[in-house]
Amino acid sequence: MSDFDQVSLDAGGKPVTLPVLKGTLGNPCIDIATLPKQTGCFTYDSGFTATASCKSAVTYIDGDEGVLLYRGYPIDQLAGKSSFLEVAYLLINGELPTAEQMAGFEHEVTHHTMMHEALKNFFTGFRHDAHPMAMLCGSVASLSAFYHDTLDLNDPEQRRMAAVRLIAKMPTLAAAAYRYSIGWPIAYPKNELDYSSRFLHMMFEAPGAQLELNPVVAKALDLLFILHADHEQNASTSTVRLVGSTGANPYACVSAGIAALWGPAHGGANEAVLKMLEEIGTPDNVESAIAKAKDRSSGFRLMGFGHRVYKNFDPRAKIIREMTHKVLEELGVDDPLLEVAMKLEEAALKDDYFVERKLYPNVDFYSGIIYKALKIPTEMFTVMFAIGRTAGWVAHWLEQQVDPEAKIGRPRQIYTGADVRDYVPVDKR
Ligand code: CMC
Repeated sequence: MSDFDQVSLDAGGKPVTLPVLKGTLGNPCIDIATLPKQTGCFTYDSGFTATASCKSAVTYIDGDEGVLLYRGYPIDQLAGKSSFLEVAYLLINGELPTAEQMAGFEHEVTHHTMMHEALKNFFTGFRHDAHPMAMLCGSVASLSAFYHDTLDLNDPEQRRMAAVRLIAKMPTLAAAAYRYSIGWPIAYPKNELDYSSRFLHMMFEAPGAQLELNPVVAKALDLLFILHADHEQNASTSTVRLVGSTGANPYACVSAGIAALWGPAHGGANEAVLKMLEEIGTPDNVESAIAKAKDRSSGFRLMGFGHRVYKNFDPRAKIIREMTHKVLEELGVDDPLLEVAMKLEEAALKDDYFVERKLYPNVDFYSGIIYKALKIPTEMFTVMFAIGRTAGWVAHWLEQQVDPEAKIGRPRQIYTGADVRDYVPVDKR
């Protein structure tokens, strides 16, 4: 960390001093809020590669060292010892729960998993082949129509309940989207089950039958939810915050976050990775895939590779890689795509193009193979990501609501359009 607490600029001969802000960990930030007043200039940073948009105490990432902390706890410790719901409690409240607090939270989440019967009509209104992310976006936004009497953002209890409802109902809506797409009746949540088992039952229990759930599957899914739970100011969380900054309700904010997550550069990458591995097909085709990814004109990128922040390794990818081998072995799945993935990873990590650009496998590289082994359909992969990330989205939204420095998000631009000109009537053009 630097030991200076201000920086000086020379703005056309006029000295300008800007304070440097420091957090608990991480890079210091130059506070540029007074820059326009002092110099008449804005700052330009397309893609926010050097810009902190808020102060946050939820998650810390050190991209060079491959560190990820939720509320100070290293991701590998949480992945090894915690559960998704406990992590969700931690993200929202800032501290790990006592046994009593955890039991209360679990009870509350369990008893808010139902969706309003009228919400079922939303699903039946979609085409049967709608993408589940489209259905999730729409149905989550529509929750605000069912809870409009508890949307007073100035009431901490109403804010907290909205967060609980979103965490509780996301798996119910996700499973409903899937069941509708295969023509099954929407299933009710079973209260006696834990969070991940309940979701798997809602997904896979056939009408009139009883699902024999392998605990390995539920445990693996819970772990994936933990790994996806938060990742500081990523595109979807920043979207939730930007929408939240306008005072919009939390269901609308999270729906916007789901839309941002859907893109293949973000959460949509897990679906894209599996499609890519299937297209590559066999380890023999790996070299040509690498060559294509290096050729910019091909427009092809190695999906599941590279990260804006991690430039050494993604600690989540490390955990998922180990987990993939274990889960496939435990479930007795022999997936030839795993061999393709390993060969691709090995070849890319040896290749100068990827080494020079610090492109490593990210969280999405192996997660698709696990989802496939858990029999989650490919188009549901990003929905899985959304279920886990809901915990982070609501934690950030709650934090923003009480941030005394929070303002409406309103970036500026460098205008590159036409200079002022006079309107020309159509017959003179
Ligand atoms: N395959 C081939 N080349 C790549 C890749 C890739 N996956 N990722 C980056 N590059 C190249 C890129 O062409 C550029 O090369 P050059 O310097 O010659 O122009 C250089 O590496 C830097 O890339 P960038 O696009 O400027 O980096 P970014 O920080 O803006 O993008 C990223 C990060 C994750 C969007 C990008 O690496 C990517 O598109 N990866 C594939 C999609 C993916 O796996 N996304 C999931 C991200 S992790 C989970 C999540 O956030 O949801």
